[in-house]
Amino acid sequence: MKRIKAIYPGSFDPPTNGHLDLIERGSKIFDELVVAILRNPEKNPLFSLADRRKMLEAMTSGFDNVSVDTFDGLTVDYALRVEARAILRGIRAISDYEYELQMALMNRKLQPGLETVFMMPAEKYSYLSSRLVREVAQLGGSIECLVPDLVEQRVREKIDVAHKFANREQSAGKTPSEGKSKFRKKKL
Ligand code: PNS
Repeated sequence: MKRIKAIYPGSFDPPTNGHLDLIERGSKIFDELVVAILRNPEKNPLFSLADRRKMLEAMTSGFDNVSVDTFDGLTVDYALRVEARAILRGIRAISDYEYELQMALMNRKLQPGLETVFMMPAEKYSYLSSRLVREVAQLGGSIECLVPDLVEQRVREKIDVAHKFANREQSAGKTPSEGKSKFRKKKL
């Protein structure tokens, strides 16, 4: 019998409980699942690729058939390279649908043999996104229950460092906007 390998591509900046929920669901229907982190030089991520990889590896260590990898270029090219037959994507709400449909159809145009499979995360994660996690954490809100404990800790560390850096620049007489902190510059 043919084994079905799928990739789950994304930015995962940071990985959330919603991602983990989808990974768990994907691991049950595919023989092999590769969580594939996009190396996107245009974005200004909170976490480096290596950090995201480490967090995802720790989060998925309990799944025998899940691995973590990084890629650049087209998702379909990466899928072909690793001999995957499907792309797994999550749909949380109708608002995700248009973008996801567009992407799935473009990927099908580029590589007709590759299927996109959509899964819904648990309802309790339907409002959850990496962008909101970053925003809430940066503004001092709690991200408990939104991300695994290890990710929460890493996000806190990142933000503390960014705050310290911004405070140091302020006490050196610079306005926050003059500072070089990535945290300060980041668009929320
Ligand atoms: O977690 P994200 O940011 O929603 O993931 C988006 C991702 C990485 C799946 C998408 O941007 C992507 O596939 N990028 C790789 C470049 C590519 O293949 N572009 C054409 C997609 S139709």
